[in-house]
Amino acid sequence: MKKFFLHLTLIISLFTISAKAQTKISISDLKCEMLTNPEGIDVLQPRLSWKIKATINDVKQTSYQIIASSSLEKLNEGNGDLWDSGKVESDASVNVIYNGKKLKDRQDVYWNVTVFTNKGEAQSKETAHFSIGISTYADWKSTRWIGYEKMSKGDSISQYSRLSARYLRKEIDLKKKVKSAKVYIMGMGLYELYINGNKIGDQVLAPVPTDYTKNIKYNVFDVTSQLKEGKNALGTILGNGRFFTMRQDYKPYKIKTFGYPKMALQLFVEYTDGSKDVIRTDDTWKITTDGPILSNNEYDGEEYDARKEMKGWNTINFDDKKWLSAEYVQEPGGFYEGQMSANMKIKGEVKPISLTQTPKGTCILDMGQNMVGWLQLKVKGNAGDKITMKFAESLQPDGSLYIANLRDAKTTDIYTLKGEGEEVWEPRFIFHGFRFVEISGFKSKPALENFVGKVVYDDIQTTGTFDSSNPIMNQIFKNAWWGISGNYKGMPIDCPQRNERQPWLGDRTTGAYGESFLFDNQTLYAKWLDDIKNSQTIDGGIPDVAPAFWRYYGDNVTWPGTYITVADMLYQQFGDAKVVEKQYPYMKKWMDYMEENYLVDDIMTKDKYGDWCVPPELLELIRSKDPSRLTDGELISSAFYYQLLNIMKKFAIIANTQNDIKHYDELASRIKKAFNAKYFNKDKNNYANNTVTANLLPLTFGMVPEELKQKVFESLVHEVEVTKNGHVSTGVIGTQFLMRTLTNFGRGDLAFKLASNKTYPSWGYMVENGATTIWELWNGNTADPAMNSQNHVMLLGDLLIWYYENMAGIKSNPETPGFKQIVMKPDFNAGLTYVNASYESIYGTIKSDWKKDKKGLVWNITIPANTSAIVYLPTTNVSSITVNKQKLTQFSASIKTDSNNTAVTLPSGSYVLNVK
Ligand code: BGC
Repeated sequence: MKKFFLHLTLIISLFTISAKAQTKISISDLKCEMLTNPEGIDVLQPRLSWKIKATINDVKQTSYQIIASSSLEKLNEGNGDLWDSGKVESDASVNVIYNGKKLKDRQDVYWNVTVFTNKGEAQSKETAHFSIGISTYADWKSTRWIGYEKMSKGDSISQYSRLSARYLRKEIDLKKKVKSAKVYIMGMGLYELYINGNKIGDQVLAPVPTDYTKNIKYNVFDVTSQLKEGKNALGTILGNGRFFTMRQDYKPYKIKTFGYPKMALQLFVEYTDGSKDVIRTDDTWKITTDGPILSNNEYDGEEYDARKEMKGWNTINFDDKKWLSAEYVQEPGGFYEGQMSANMKIKGEVKPISLTQTPKGTCILDMGQNMVGWLQLKVKGNAGDKITMKFAESLQPDGSLYIANLRDAKTTDIYTLKGEGEEVWEPRFIFHGFRFVEISGFKSKPALENFVGKVVYDDIQTTGTFDSSNPIMNQIFKNAWWGISGNYKGMPIDCPQRNERQPWLGDRTTGAYGESFLFDNQTLYAKWLDDIKNSQTIDGGIPDVAPAFWRYYGDNVTWPGTYITVADMLYQQFGDAKVVEKQYPYMKKWMDYMEENYLVDDIMTKDKYGDWCVPPELLELIRSKDPSRLTDGELISSAFYYQLLNIMKKFAIIANTQNDIKHYDELASRIKKAFNAKYFNKDKNNYANNTVTANLLPLTFGMVPEELKQKVFESLVHEVEVTKNGHVSTGVIGTQFLMRTLTNFGRGDLAFKLASNKTYPSWGYMVENGATTIWELWNGNTADPAMNSQNHVMLLGDLLIWYYENMAGIKSNPETPGFKQIVMKPDFNAGLTYVNASYESIYGTIKSDWKKDKKGLVWNITIPANTSAIVYLPTTNVSSITVNKQKLTQFSASIKTDSNNTAVTLPSGSYVLNVK
């Protein structure tokens, strides 16, 4: 098998204004992203993006000029030796494909851009920089994988597998002065890298997890400033992560494991005289498993014995005579790829709010927030004293930890003191999902100051803010932020606390879209689509979990369909057509596979989970057994497959596979026909057993004949409003469409009722019962602990999309993906009296801040430069509208009215709109 992939380290420079005299335009956030073509062939086509910031209205880019140089000096001289695009007439400011000289491996590229607008021109003042990765497998061939493939004292392969961390070191002698140096590291499962005792990079739990038999991610660091002429020491610690799997002895058919931790590293050094050196992993490296990290197991926790610390192990002149020579080991098997998505990082800190002593003599620490990460500990004591910290999400009525919902995850960190004054410790290779910690081992009661919670998730930006007149909705938003961020672990996982933590596809089908308003999750989800692609079987099957650490190949529709809906999200929200082109052949293969194997009489006959987690009839149940609450599985899979066909139709146009369109089109109409024939009840104007989900899916997906839509909607409303007394009755499937469909059909008020409810079942009920994240079950406070996580995001459904698109009125026009044009159409009458929201789009910040009172509506909006917005005002009386205190009629010529609204297209800028 040929192995080559091209990637780069993504380095984004933020920079400030450089406007030419008097113009009020600047450029920021130059972004560059590297693409490979779908086969991973060595086509070097990074995409370049920039944001134009303007303090004046109506700014449109008319042309741009990109200069890319092989050195900073050249760029500063204006010498685009790699690429001078010349002045290109175009309004494109995102995803502009690099079109210069062919780029070479490990090459550095410095670039900047000048934009010309209708209001003047601006040049980026600082430069953006990226470097190309290693494209050919051959480039790695003399670099050996090294490790130690045996158990040591205290290790075990069992239900609670234990393995001590591997410490590796190597001294190198650099004969000359270093001009530049880059290190490329694959440290499996997790690594920490040191040069001369200093940790390289601020990432934690790196690299991102993948199926290591399919692809391996390497990280790259510029380490020029870390190296000196003469002797230097390289050191790494290897942890288990998902590589040496933690639950080794149960369900071996189900859980994939990859072997003992191992690594491959190469360090490229260029000296000031132009000569070069490469340092690679080989058997001259030394290794020991006899360090302080006795065990590191994602589910069970980390154990650290500070007495075993090896002072100076990662600096020169350390005595490593007792260490072993590293062994040559088998390579893991997957392609080597530069990691394009973010590593995790410590993104924040939480100070605990209380510490209570228990009758047992232990203490319970309350972080005040269900968080994901770990606890940093400060302690003084004698050598050999042990501090034990056990983590849980909530407490039992008697004040002790509630651990039943963790299943057999031990979630316990143990620190053994060395007895040298104040000791500060935090784990390296594990994380916990917790709010409470039981602490034992302190000689006297510790103080709150002894502990700091470290919040750990992918290093991506928070892009959305939301505040409204409804406190419950605001708290749900906060809980969602905590839940989503905490479950970003280099892949989106279902939950961070129990013995599961798997990247379940179905939890993100629509969720990923809602999340994209809160987080810049583009590269995370692009990486996940690769994980899904890599998990595809030869005949086309897609599993429910990808990477398939748990092998669930059940040939379901709803969970695997996430492959397609997430690609659609990346296209809609980030304008990423490349990702669609890349994944298209594999998505098509799966669609064909499902059609060939499971379409019977135009009904999709395969469904595994139904409308997962509907509110059950009894508060202690996980799953409902009452048939009137459950929606027919084949109805769900057929409707879903129909929707996916429509998305694939759109993708076929993007991927330029016109022949497929006809097929998707014809198949969709056949399914629609069969679906209506099978499930529509003519006498009752509803579908199947009339659950909300049964009516909602055909309505949302456009399967209901035009003349019947209103009637079906009435059936749906009756179910929600009357039968369920204004409460949700949907599970993971129905909730994905509930809020938007109610609103789009004119019942935003009912959607608002669902969003602001405090009684069971509702999101507000979770808040009322002390939740600081989102629960796995609507009845999360009473249900059987066997499946009852307090930090799952799947029940959010389309709630966050509704917050932004329908309440704030921030929506990308589907015709112009990536917010090139914004549709601003809040439902002002749903029930809120004000909303103040913002979203950092790829073009810049979009703001919507409206307030309604007796005097009318005041709406402040911001539309980023180089975009426009269609803005809807809730009146047909055009003369009652002003823009920046001017009559709308005088302000704009592009005014349209329908039966309820006035719509006006506004160019970029900030506006105050008023309706009297
Ligand atoms: C997971 C869910 C997942 C579901 C599917 C659960 O155990 O936590 O998030 O989607 O199983 O069966």
